[in-house]
Amino acid sequence: MSEYKLELVDISKSYGKKVIFENINLKIKKGEFFVILGPSGTGKSTLLKAITGTVPPDSGKIILDGNDITDTPINRRDIAMMFQSYALYPNMSAYDNIAFPLRMHHIDKKEIDRRVRSTAKMLKINDIIDFNVTKISGGQKQRVALARAIVRHPAIFLLDEPLSNLDARIRYTTREELKNIQRMLKQTFIHVTHDQSEARVLADRVAVLNEGKLEQVGTFDEIYNYPVNTWVGDFVGTFPMNFLQEARNKTRQIGFRPEWTRITKKGGINAKVLSVENISNTAFLFCSVPGSAKPVVITSRRQYSVGDKINFRISRFNVYEKGRLVRKTGTAAKKARHPLHKTR
Ligand SMILES: Nc1ncnc2c1ncn2[C@@H]1O[C@H](COP(=O)(O)OP(=O)(O)OP(=O)(O)O)[C@@H](O)[C@H]1O
Ligand SMILES: [Mg+2]
Repeated sequence: MSEYKLELVDISKSYGKKVIFENINLKIKKGEFFVILGPSGTGKSTLLKAITGTVPPDSGKIILDGNDITDTPINRRDIAMMFQSYALYPNMSAYDNIAFPLRMHHIDKKEIDRRVRSTAKMLKINDIIDFNVTKISGGQKQRVALARAIVRHPAIFLLDEPLSNLDARIRYTTREELKNIQRMLKQTFIHVTHDQSEARVLADRVAVLNEGKLEQVGTFDEIYNYPVNTWVGDFVGTFPMNFLQEARNKTRQIGFRPEWTRITKKGGINAKVLSVENISNTAFLFCSVPGSAKPVVITSRRQYSVGDKINFRISRFNVYEKGRLVRKTGTAAKKARHPLHKTR
């Protein structure tokens, strides 16, 4: 038996001359909550459709539970997918929508009823289950679609932006529920999103997809702390990673997160506060720094005002050479002298 639930081996897909994704290699472990994170239009949905078989890849292999399913017909792949656009059957009740995949598989009526009701209960839609799906709210539709995907006990679940149509409050609670459901079912989930807070909260591991290319695969913390290149550093994080050119080396950049800095009385780097954003107890100061075209974001416990002149030190940083990570500095190296600090 394979230790992996799903393996994508060198899969590629183009529409005409347009490459959607190219040579994707991924190994997803059993029982893993795996998140594919990427901006809009980078091929996330197409990648999921390739796994289900609705959009077969041009080349490469798809292995499920150690078996090559690349040429297996869609209806014989043991995969449940929840589409980005719910795709509920209109003029059917929520109950019938959820029961549909079970009826397709000719499961016994009593067993269908038992499973539909227990799934609906788990997702807290048992009170609307007899309603026509055109009469229920967006959040409820989304839960019905989710129930329809999980009712069948498939080998793997693919969820395409399942939370994106919910308002912020419901999104947070549903996100927690989704994580609990996955823990309860102990099944492998592949969840696609452009929202990095979903990746942070839900994922055991994250794959960052950019224009059909896998940039980095790892835990959210690994990716946040050690982005493999400046693109990932810029994309991941509430604020982009700061990049400053090294003084003596034009191809080298120092990359650091806002919270890897501290304000000092003198020395360090001179900066001027351009704007301030407060998140809980921390002030995020957007600063202009000589030699940097983009504002640098640093954190402070104390409040500063726009126009204030400050000095800060970088306590932790990564080194990027021509945009690629070449050196990591962990918390252990907090006292490391920084090439941008003024000696005094
Ligand atoms: N049937 C198709 N024919 C031609 N191009 C397509 C087709 N389907 C998708 N594309 C293109 O492939 C690219 C990737 O689309 P895809 O839907 O996979 O992106 P996505 O990452 O899921 O985006 P979003 O976050 O907006 O859902 C887009 O440029 C899209 O226009
Ligand atoms: Mg999509």
